[in-house]
Amino acid sequence: MKTTPDVVEISLGDRSYNIHVGAGLLIEAGALVRSAIQQPRVVIVSDENVAALHYARLAESLSTTAIEAELITVPAGEHAKSFEHLESLLDRLLELRVERGDAIIALGGGVIGDLAGFAASILRRGIDVIQAPTTLLAQVDSSVGGKTAINTRFGKNLVGSFHQPRMVLADTDVLATLPERELRAGYAEVVKYGLIDQPEFFGWLEKNGTHVLSGDPDATRHAVITSCRSKAEIVSADERETGSRALLNLGHTFAHALEAEVAYEGRLIHGEAVAIGIVMAFDLSTRLGLCPADDAARVRRHFNDVGLPVTAASIPGLESVRPQVLVDHMRQDKKVRGGRLTFILARGIGQAFITADVDEQTVITALEEDLAVSA
Ligand code: NAD
Ligand code: GLY
Repeated sequence: MKTTPDVVEISLGDRSYNIHVGAGLLIEAGALVRSAIQQPRVVIVSDENVAALHYARLAESLSTTAIEAELITVPAGEHAKSFEHLESLLDRLLELRVERGDAIIALGGGVIGDLAGFAASILRRGIDVIQAPTTLLAQVDSSVGGKTAINTRFGKNLVGSFHQPRMVLADTDVLATLPERELRAGYAEVVKYGLIDQPEFFGWLEKNGTHVLSGDPDATRHAVITSCRSKAEIVSADERETGSRALLNLGHTFAHALEAEVAYEGRLIHGEAVAIGIVMAFDLSTRLGLCPADDAARVRRHFNDVGLPVTAASIPGLESVRPQVLVDHMRQDKKVRGGRLTFILARGIGQAFITADVDEQTVITALEEDLAVSA
């Protein structure tokens, strides 16, 4: 179904751009893409799953505005965010003689957005990228704000760049083909915005989250737009994460440690790790006497109600992970300063804040409790 797209602006001076959100956007993409690129040639980078489902429609639309398009696919999954796949992607782009004035379209989820965005940022010292996110997670978070990265054996997203896209095209229709588990995982990042500073949005999600997850078009559009507006405001105020942008990492310090511990295998996908991580952040906030226990319980209950995991103990292979092991993973977190861990905690729903003032033993004790909960 086609509707007039909503537009959210990311305001960053000469790097400003629009996020277009709407149903059926990919079949209309030609004119929008033409307005954002320097010369009529693009390379669409996608994964094998997404290319099979959505590439043809995008390519056909681009051809209506005489844009020459080529396709490069990479295997689906988090493992594509590696030096190996980055190198092979760069080689293929160079084989195609991609020029500085050409553009990459990242058609896929957060993995493709991060990998193709990073490749675009370093190819010939930087070419344009348009993000065309196809997962809920990518539409509400990873396609917006210019963070790109790959993982290394030391942890997640440790090598990357800030490279703002020229445009984001979030076609909500493409979410219809997304596996249910992936939709649900992306929903954790939607909830995150309510918990950071929009308690009324969290209340709306408590009532309407199941509609978003069942694919209701109006609920989905509202959730995507509200999330993008929220992210746009935060990124416009602090593009390079020198301060408030770190709020977007609510739950992520814990999540990245859990993901590193399962070696990015499919038994725990990113959004699921974020759900568990957010519950851990609220539990730690409560333990520190900062957050009412009722608010932490509300967060846990909502994730539980929509079928997201709320404890590491429910993930195969993490049943007996030791808190110290997770804290050791956290030492690679990009927010570590002078060896001290930084956490995003909350004084309640919609009241997240950043602090480095957390005693490590308190974190370990809170983790011991969380890890002991079995569901
Ligand atoms: P993903 O890109 O791996 O996509 C999930 C799965 O869904 C893949 O198998 C993919 O092939 C499939 N898929 C994607 N779109 C589909 C569609 N429309 N129909 C059918 N199948 C589809 O995972 P993700 O959850 O989108 O992204 C996770 C990644 O995003 C992580 O690496 C995370 O670190 C990163 N991330 C980055 C940022 C950022 O700011 N750069 C923010 C959040 C997350
Ligand atoms: N997803 C966190 C950020 O964009 O800053």
